[in-house]
Amino acid sequence: MTDQPLQTDLEAIVRDARGEMEHSSTPEALESWRVSYLGRRGRLTLLLRSLASLSLEERRTVGAEANRAKAQLEQLLEQRQQALKQETSRLLQEGRIDVTLPGRPVPLGRLHPITQTVREICAAFVSMGFDAVEGPEVEWEHYNFDALNIPRDHPARDMWDTLWVDWTDPTSQQRRMLLRTHTSPMQARVMEKTRPPVRVVVPGRVYRYEASDATHEWHFTQVEGLAVDERITFADMKGTLYEFAHRIFGADRKVRFRCDYFPFVEPGAEMAIDCFACQGKGCRICKDTGWIEIMGAGMVHPKVLDGVGYDPSVYTGFAFGLGVERIAMLKYGIEDIRLFYANDVRFLRQF
Ligand code: PHE
Repeated sequence: MTDQPLQTDLEAIVRDARGEMEHSSTPEALESWRVSYLGRRGRLTLLLRSLASLSLEERRTVGAEANRAKAQLEQLLEQRQQALKQETSRLLQEGRIDVTLPGRPVPLGRLHPITQTVREICAAFVSMGFDAVEGPEVEWEHYNFDALNIPRDHPARDMWDTLWVDWTDPTSQQRRMLLRTHTSPMQARVMEKTRPPVRVVVPGRVYRYEASDATHEWHFTQVEGLAVDERITFADMKGTLYEFAHRIFGADRKVRFRCDYFPFVEPGAEMAIDCFACQGKGCRICKDTGWIEIMGAGMVHPKVLDGVGYDPSVYTGFAFGLGVERIAMLKYGIEDIRLFYANDVRFLRQF
């Protein structure tokens, strides 16, 4: 090869062009590569044009090499463009969205079993003409106890181990607050606000200061019921609760009422249903008694009526209170109340 400056230029151009091509991986980079080497003002084009000033002999040798170089660079460009095209369509293929694939499942939430049971219980009473209302969980001592005929030193206060709220009413040192131990305080609250007839159910959370075990939690859920009007009798109470038991536990349930004591009812009763697991024969669920106690109830005590300004010689009524967790445990065969509040989705998902 003759050592001529043009020859050297040509070699440099080809070397640069190849080197730059290594780093050109976008259509834009390829185009600017083309422009700078093969374009009208590109380095190789300019060199080819300058051949005109050479002698015929020189033109022949350098010209032939230059044309070969041009063909090489054009081929290089062509290959590179092809490769890029293939790469692009491969990426498209890979990232392609197959619209016929099934969608990703959206996890569906559901209501907590206690919420479901509360709604079921309330729906049964609502269909019998009761309204559902809610009340405060942080409650005055007055509504939780005094208004329910449970004065300060009454031994019945022991029945509701109380979580007291550490707060003193600046207007009266006497007014203490607590976490309600039952939903019964709503009896007085509702009656204070309305005139008879009253028919309400009150679902809500209640709190007791006690250790938890398989059948006790320090917080749980109750549904309270209250019906007050002229001439309401114990028979109305039995009929209503009988109907309720049938709706929740099945139409062939028997119910049993026995005497029980609650300071705010007189007479007071405890209601049981015959065991749906063994049909009353005796089993583990009913602890071999054939009966399952499901709620406390009774005729509203005249002192409670009097306390809210209802004349006990005109109005009578019944009240009841049931534990929702217990009902749900019976219904679904759950053996430990703590499962409801352990937040284990494997448990909760089953309902
Ligand atoms: N409040 C009572 C309890 O928590 C239940 C009850 C309500 C009893 C209404 C009679 C009438 O044990």
